[in-house]
Amino acid sequence: MADRDKAVVEAERPGSLEEIAAQIQSCRRCPIGCNGTRAVAGEGPERARLMIVGEQPGDVEERLGRPFVGPAGRLLRSHLEDVGIDEGRAYVTNAVKHFKFVPRGKRRLHQSPTAGEIDACRWWVESERRIVRPRLVLALGASAARGMLGKAVGVQKARGAPLALEDGAELWVSTHPSYLLRLRDEGRALEEERFAADLCKVAGRLAELG
Ligand code: URA
Repeated sequence: MADRDKAVVEAERPGSLEEIAAQIQSCRRCPIGCNGTRAVAGEGPERARLMIVGEQPGDVEERLGRPFVGPAGRLLRSHLEDVGIDEGRAYVTNAVKHFKFVPRGKRRLHQSPTAGEIDACRWWVESERRIVRPRLVLALGASAARGMLGKAVGVQKARGAPLALEDGAELWVSTHPSYLLRLRDEGRALEEERFAADLCKVAGRLAELG
């Protein structure tokens, strides 16, 4: 895109989190936005040092209109608490703002967003990041990491050390808590340990930043 066109596009960016919350409701940039569900905005302090990014709202999140308030959110919060990260001081959001699902009787079963859908929604998560300007971003799962970087990222390869975002913020990648919830027994215990170790590093960086 030519510099002049880029400048025109940038001028259209929402200037506040409230504007984003309002504008995502009518977003039709991708097919998920057309499925009649409520878009879920991010939540948290406007100047948070840590931004936590999930994949997309789930069934509970869509019904309540808030991010990470279902089972995955409960698991995430308990791990954040264990490593001493105050969730109330983090800005929590998703790479994709609408809930993608297939109906099964009375249930709505989660479906992963496509790369194209995540890329279409980058406009919003990037707009949030430009307003909040976090020093650290924790991306939970491959969709969240793609939402932050605009390209495919392998979670296992990327976890454990920060990646640099273009404004100097650090991107930390870990698994998604929904993935942990699907595991059983020793597999679950092992992956939860690895998740905890990732969060511990983020907590350490937050402490270093003061
Ligand atoms: N999973 C996510 O990625 N985000 C939510 O808000 C809830 C579940």
